[in-house]
Amino acid sequence: MDVTDPKRAAALAALQELPEHGVIGLGTGSTAKLFIDEVARLVRAGRRLVGVPTSEASRAQAEALGVPLLDDVGPWEIDVTVDGADEVDAALNLIKGGGAAHTREKIVNHASRKNVIVVDPAKLSRRLGEKWHVPIEVLPFGHASTARALGAHGTPSLRTREGANVRTDAGNLIYDLNAGVIADPAALDAALHAIPGVVETGLFVARADVVIVGGLPVRRLERGAAG
Ligand code: A5P
Repeated sequence: MDVTDPKRAAALAALQELPEHGVIGLGTGSTAKLFIDEVARLVRAGRRLVGVPTSEASRAQAEALGVPLLDDVGPWEIDVTVDGADEVDAALNLIKGGGAAHTREKIVNHASRKNVIVVDPAKLSRRLGEKWHVPIEVLPFGHASTARALGAHGTPSLRTREGANVRTDAGNLIYDLNAGVIADPAALDAALHAIPGVVETGLFVARADVVIVGGLPVRRLERGAAG
């Protein structure tokens, strides 16, 4: 395995966080994809690990690799979830949703006893918003009105790819909100949730127990101990 790739190094280090046997939340994105490859390798070697995928993409990957999965309904007792992030601040708050999967990711995160985030060093910043806008999943019905309300907190842009609106696995839309540098992520998250039509935000406040930063050396940051 090429551990000079920071994402791969972080994914590999996350294996140390797993129980011998148990239920594992499977994140979404390029770093989580590398982690799922490793989980499949452990399953083939006889470890009894069962996954809960955070997206249809992660489900398809895990299924193709033979990782057993729980159903979509829950309630789950997830031992550890390993997921990526787009930005990580000094207190280990996160922006997620670059892959439009943050709603399912947040549900799985909240159902997990422990949440491990795997990133490369480019994702670290002092405060959220320095590097990334806040993805917001929005219902299609009345989304222009929802966007107008989002405008009280920054500049929202409807996410498109190749000329078409990006849709989440639930068929909803994504607005990326340029809120500048975010002074109080919890307050912004609460204000955004108060807007009708908002399904979920990509702000994960105090939801990472451990952040593994790939690189040489790999760093393991724990919430509360970060400085
Ligand atoms: C998916 O919606 C996201 O939250 C991803 O976890 C995040 O974008 C990190 O992805 P990469 O590991 O590809 O950077």
